[in-house]
Amino acid sequence: MYGKIMLIHGPNLNMLGIRQPEIYGTTTLSEIESLMEKKADEAGVLLECFQSNSEGALIDAIQSTYRRADGIILNAGAYTHYSYAIRDAIASVMVPTVEVHLSDIHSREDFRRISVIEPVCVRQICGMGVDGYIAALEELMRNHVR
Ligand code: DQA
Repeated sequence: MYGKIMLIHGPNLNMLGIRQPEIYGTTTLSEIESLMEKKADEAGVLLECFQSNSEGALIDAIQSTYRRADGIILNAGAYTHYSYAIRDAIASVMVPTVEVHLSDIHSREDFRRISVIEPVCVRQICGMGVDGYIAALEELMRNHVR
């Protein structure tokens, strides 16, 4: 084991599997976390998972990565589109962060096209469903994890 990645999910993502399956699919959050734990294990990296519906708790989780993690995989849910506080938290810790969305935020409602966190993330991955998380892990392993 030589690195650590934090997988963070924001509001309503605890409802995956139930929530609008036609948009977000039928995979539950715990299934995504188990899959990612397996992939991280194969890659030789530790994965810590966290989900909250609260902005402050998400900021605390991001801050907790300072000098403690090599990367963050973040699906911030709707906070993506308007939380300058989450953006500032990512910029503060200087931990490479990949932004992930299950759906293609660019082909939905206008308000979803804007991501205020995109400028402080190393990459945005969207519209790939669960595979997007695997792509995010690969991106961090390839370019950012020691
Ligand atoms: C989402 C897209 C967001 O617009 C939405 O608010 C979510 C989920 C996605 O994974 O596609 O909660 O981040």
